[in-house]
Amino acid sequence: MRKLKVLSAAILVGMTTASALAAVQLYHTVEGTALDLSFALEEGRDTEAVKHFLATGEDLYTTQEAVLPEGESLYLTACSGCHGHNGEGKIGPGLNDDYWTYPKNGTDKGLFETIYGGAQGMMGPQYGNLTLDEMLKVIAWVRHLYVGDPDKADWLTPEQRANFTPYEPKHGTK
Ligand code: HEC
Repeated sequence: MRKLKVLSAAILVGMTTASALAAVQLYHTVEGTALDLSFALEEGRDTEAVKHFLATGEDLYTTQEAVLPEGESLYLTACSGCHGHNGEGKIGPGLNDDYWTYPKNGTDKGLFETIYGGAQGMMGPQYGNLTLDEMLKVIAWVRHLYVGDPDKADWLTPEQRANFTPYEPKHGTK
């Protein structure tokens, strides 16, 4: 009995530290369980963009062109092997159109949850590969790769939608 009490107290403490980091609750894309942010790499946890994201679920980088080169290089290292150099899809589904297996990937929060916590099979959690800040930069790049109808891209701001030009693939697709 005593052991049980100690154990549940320990679980409770664990849960509070994880959720203390985030005002928005983040969930695993497939299992729907709460994501534990304490697995995140130490570096890149407290940038302005990460703090803003954890408080609001919005990714400030999606409107900052200056982060695109870094987002691109992170994408080419961490994602393109499975999703294609231009996000056209390979082992993993395309990320450059408006079809999502998991519709929540049309939101910054949902896309972050999929990257951080993974989905099924080969789509493993990325918290050991990318810092939280880097995940937000990858999201900006994934949005930049879009070649679909801007009206179906809920994640675009009205200004981005009005000025939309589809991504011009600069890498070969093979
Ligand atoms: C080892 C291969 C692999 C790597 C690396 C990988 N993915 Fe995936 N990804 C997959 C597979 C396979 C799926 C399909 C899983 C599913 O349907 O549950 C997937 C699914 C996804 C989805 C869901 C798409 C949808 O239609 O809802 C997103 C978003 C995604 N990946 C983004 C990324 C990003 C961003 C990176 C890099 C940080 C990345 N993935 C790295 C293989 C990979």
